[in-house]
Amino acid sequence: MTRTAVEIIILPTPKAASTTAARMIARLLRDKPDAVLGLAAGSTPLLLFRELVKMNLNWSKVTTFNLDEYVGLSPKHPASYHRFMWENLFTHINIRHHNVHIPDGLTKDIPSFCRRYETQIRRSGSIDLQVLGIGADGHIGFNEPTSSLASRTRLKTLTAQTRRDNARFFGSEEKVPRHVITMGIGTIMDARQCLLLALGKHKARAVAQAVEGPVTSMNPASVLQMHPVAKIVLDEAAASRLTRADYYRWVFQNKPDWQKL
Ligand code: F6R
Repeated sequence: MTRTAVEIIILPTPKAASTTAARMIARLLRDKPDAVLGLAAGSTPLLLFRELVKMNLNWSKVTTFNLDEYVGLSPKHPASYHRFMWENLFTHINIRHHNVHIPDGLTKDIPSFCRRYETQIRRSGSIDLQVLGIGADGHIGFNEPTSSLASRTRLKTLTAQTRRDNARFFGSEEKVPRHVITMGIGTIMDARQCLLLALGKHKARAVAQAVEGPVTSMNPASVLQMHPVAKIVLDEAAASRLTRADYYRWVFQNKPDWQKL
């Protein structure tokens, strides 16, 4: 029987939320040493990656697929997600280079690259756990509002808000690429488990709409309400606009032992 659940976990600080997320990943890697992990880049997973590195886990059989990359950026570009992932995670763990997959921002043929990425995910046995951040507009991966909820890996155009939000990595808004390659929402929904981490007040509105609003492509993260095993891990600031926060805390504190982390 499949257990279907969306779980909202509210923790006091970014560190506590990131540590909890890291424990979920650690448990997966211990239970399944050859797990396939979907990863996000950006500010949100930084503490999570730090915690994972400290845990000294065995990554030698793990395969990873990142959600997205900017079109036109070489892997060496300081703001590329390639560079970000190697600097903040992969260099510090014993993962094998050939087991790391990140969309190629320099590919000459985007549609066939995207098809291949989907095939690689399928051939790896599918993603066991997909780590997600959330944009202030509700995007997951770079699936901006009104993305098809059935979408697969493809080219997307960033919204003005996302380009403004990510200007901090590039020095100015003009330098932020307009296009990205991103896993689709359908691709993300195929993962056996999703773990969305959100930290900070600037995410509170998008989180509240995703968790307590209707399922709508206007807030792509809201699709997780339909996912069989979705965990939404929040710090207090990101949870600050949830109307049922007390209930989520109560549920988490009263989990039966067999469900505990
Ligand atoms: C990054 C990604 C994006 C980010 C989101 C939040 O790989 O897929 O969805 O998770 O834009 O970004 P940060 O964490 O920088 O606030």
